[in-house]
Amino acid sequence: MKHIDVKQIFEEPAFGGEVTVCGWVRTARDSKNVAFIELNDGTSLPHIQIVIDKSGNTNCDAEAMRLGTSVKVTGTVVEGREGKPEINAKEVSVIGTCPLEYPLQKKRHTLEFLRTMPHLRGRTNTFNAVMRVRSVLAEAIHTYFQERNYVYVNTPLITGSDCEGAGEMFQVTTIGYSDGFKNAEEYYAADFFGQRAGLSVSGQLEGEMAAMAMGKIYTFGPSFRAENSNTPKHLAEFWHVEPEVAFAELPDVIEIAEDMLKHVIGTLLEKCPDEMAFFDRHFENGIIERLRDLISHKFATITYTEAIEELKKSGEQFVYPVEWGLDLQTEHERYISEKVFGRAVFVTDYPKEIKSFYMKQNPDGKTVAAVDLLVPGVGEIIGGSEREADYDRLVAAMEDRGMDMSPYGDYLDLRRYGSVPHGGFGLGFERLIMYVTGVQNIRDVILFPRTVGGIR
Ligand code: 4AD
Repeated sequence: MKHIDVKQIFEEPAFGGEVTVCGWVRTARDSKNVAFIELNDGTSLPHIQIVIDKSGNTNCDAEAMRLGTSVKVTGTVVEGREGKPEINAKEVSVIGTCPLEYPLQKKRHTLEFLRTMPHLRGRTNTFNAVMRVRSVLAEAIHTYFQERNYVYVNTPLITGSDCEGAGEMFQVTTIGYSDGFKNAEEYYAADFFGQRAGLSVSGQLEGEMAAMAMGKIYTFGPSFRAENSNTPKHLAEFWHVEPEVAFAELPDVIEIAEDMLKHVIGTLLEKCPDEMAFFDRHFENGIIERLRDLISHKFATITYTEAIEELKKSGEQFVYPVEWGLDLQTEHERYISEKVFGRAVFVTDYPKEIKSFYMKQNPDGKTVAAVDLLVPGVGEIIGGSEREADYDRLVAAMEDRGMDMSPYGDYLDLRRYGSVPHGGFGLGFERLIMYVTGVQNIRDVILFPRTVGGIR
């Protein structure tokens, strides 16, 4: 269908010229002589106003005035209120009709209500803005890494090894319900891969292998977590950005994380002024200022041990009592980033017992070279570390955890052939979107959320 994007009319309004646009009716007002349609085609947050002069020769089907109807409009671009372009219609034709009981009426619907209709909620201003922010951030992430010699690699989604070692893997099987096996070994041996397989919780282990060849790599794809966490910040399927860098130690990893975030947030502010103004108005007052502030200051850094001290002296009543060794919960993370620092903060050097087997062990014998980035409003958005590059120490760490080494043969082998200090991190893409938009539930920053007990 020959037509132009509404966004193009807003960006380069050719006043006096004739255009054809297509879109869905967002609002419609009818009076005796003139009718107005606010049309949105999804390319821009603002709608374009269509003016229909009923006394003239405009062809306009009555059904074109119904919310949700898709229409094609041909007309002249004119300067409307506040100098904004609008279209004086010559012809308005209905592409797809919409019944009066269209669920998205003119009023503002709650996000909970919109979750019940994932197929339609993309047509609301909120999702229009969220999805565009998502798209711009994704491109900015690729650009950041591509411009700095990182190779974009695609790691497998089906895997035989559990990267985080936390048993949060969805099982992949082609055998349906069956009681025809004597034991688990027999069952797995008969299954598709001849062994136990699952959906990957992280591309890191394969990412490390790629970094040991290409120096600097990143992945950007889905990760899966079967954690039974029904919270506003957990998805069963989330998008994961995982850079991995050879010849890098923990301070290098921290520097990359900060630089990357500043780049992508800077790009967002530049490319999405309408969307960010919308979030500032409707979701978090002052968010633009807060993000500007974030990108112009150095992030704070604190060790885990110091963070525990801060929490202990806070006088707050936390649900999870604070002791050295505690796995920081969202309440603690938010206290540190919101009350202690009031900005983004890297927490480093966690107790080895609460972190994954692959993290480099610090000389103190108690902690590992791990880092989490905590931000106000959300808590953790990045988790990373320097990796254990020494074969014997890695084997010892795995033995300490009682891990079955067999799925990790290649990973361990990597330490035998020119092992180097290396590290990386994982950024939860949806958590980043929550942070930059002020949207408080992760289900509202991805079109089709998969959560515990929630799939369609
Ligand atoms: O801290 P995590 O578990 O770290 C890893 O997976 C490492 N292998 C990353 C690496 O070093 N390459 O996860 C990293 C980030 C978290 O900080 C969080 O932002 C996000 O992934 N994340 C989730 N996001 C949404 N829903 C979930 N269930 C998530 N679990 C982790």
